[in-house]
Amino acid sequence: MWTPNVWGVGIVVHRIRKVDPVRVAVVCASQYGATLGIAERIGAELRLAGLDVRVYDAATPPHAEDVAGFDAFVVGSAVYMGHWLKNASTFVRRHQPTLLEHQVWLFSSGPLGTETTDADGADLRASTVPAEIAEFSNTLRPVGHRVFFGAIDPGALSLPHRVIRKFPGATEKIPAGDFRDWADIEAWAREIARSLVKAG
Ligand SMILES: Cc1cc2nc3c(=O)[nH]c(=O)nc-3n(C[C@H](O)[C@H](O)[C@H](O)COP(=O)(O)O)c2cc1C
Repeated sequence: MWTPNVWGVGIVVHRIRKVDPVRVAVVCASQYGATLGIAERIGAELRLAGLDVRVYDAATPPHAEDVAGFDAFVVGSAVYMGHWLKNASTFVRRHQPTLLEHQVWLFSSGPLGTETTDADGADLRASTVPAEIAEFSNTLRPVGHRVFFGAIDPGALSLPHRVIRKFPGATEKIPAGDFRDWADIEAWAREIARSLVKAG
């Protein structure tokens, strides 16, 4: 009489059972959309690496009960007057205990223009690190923080931002244009993916 080969069936079932992909939340605060564009590009690159990614505007972040379901976080913000936008800082402070238990990467979208150094010769990506990063480095112990060049369309700016841009010397610091370095952004996202795929 024929008897089923239970061991063989077990091996086949084991082989076809899919391992759950690493779940990543990319959360960003963006006033005019440039930083959201960076977050979406990071998300797309992580997906290409097989990760399960959700991209959120920090104005409508994941619910508290869903935050705990992610394995890793990439959190970013546009920088205004040396600071992250409030929605991004609020997300980080509210979920600090959960974030601390996971791998976290931070990014800021700030400097504008084609110069990579400031008047003193310092790397702009170092001299424009926003104030909150010192605090979050302590409270989250992120794997890393990166500053990316940003983008500004003067026609889209709010009245207060237009006024600030008219201050003496401000237009040179806040030139119009899209200075986002997609190759740099994608390379960073691939670094994150490599690290998560290795750990997963
Ligand atoms: C009024 C104003 C102030 C800004 N202040 C800073 C700043 O302090 N540091 C910085 O790196 N970038 C600064 N920026 C540049 C923006 O952060 C950058 O353009 C960013 O990519 C905008 O992103 P968003 O479209 O997601 O808001 C400023 C831009 C404006 C219009």
